Amino acid sequence: MNLKACLFDLDGVLVDTAVFHFQAWRRLANELGFDFTEHQNEQLKGISRMESLDRILAWGGVSLTEGEKLAWATRKNGWYLELVNQMTPADVLPGVRDFLENLREAGIKTALGSASKNAPLILERVGIADLFDAIVDGNQTSRSKPDPEVFVLGAKVLGVPPDECLVFEDALAGIEAAHRGGMKAVGVGSAAVLTEADALIPGFTSVSLQSLRLL
Ligand code: BG6
Ligand code: MG
Repeated sequence: MNLKACLFDLDGVLVDTAVFHFQAWRRLANELGFDFTEHQNEQLKGISRMESLDRILAWGGVSLTEGEKLAWATRKNGWYLELVNQMTPADVLPGVRDFLENLREAGIKTALGSASKNAPLILERVGIADLFDAIVDGNQTSRSKPDPEVFVLGAKVLGVPPDECLVFEDALAGIEAAHRGGMKAVGVGSAAVLTEADALIPGFTSVSLQSLRLL
């Protein structure tokens, strides 16, 4: 491909916050009297906060008013932020900073494409905000992945056509979002989950630009 831009999901790709989301959502479920598994949690990756809550409540057979839902979502976010606020630049996943710097040197543009409203805070905490040419997150988008909105907007801000963009994602919904936006997608994680990805990497420690251009 004629690689001109890389678009990155945040949680579970650049930082290990996917685990924090799981912990905080489980705490919410437990307080409401039920539990859910890591396997079920895969279905929450890439999904917005309120949509995640709806899915979890459905698993527990719990029905709440809109006001109660907002209160629980706020509580969950507070627990999540307690974990996020302990993060430092050491929490950027291995190889990520080098890879972003290599892209910059190679003249390839970078954008964040995350469903999270906490993305700006997380990027600042781990000190990688200035390595992105564009940041698109849950504060500018209204449709959750697998809708392509977040990536389409990212490509537009960068001024790069979709077929010259490559997305990095740890979520099945995110891979689908990239494809629906006309972009190729590299899965970061396990082949068992990311069955639709165009390529798979375990992380960023040994990714070569050359091999990505072959996609
Ligand atoms: C995505 C995560 O990146 O952001 C989801 O994969 C999360 O698990 C979503 O629900 C929204 O995040 P936040 O930080 O706005 O609650
Ligand atoms: Mg993710």
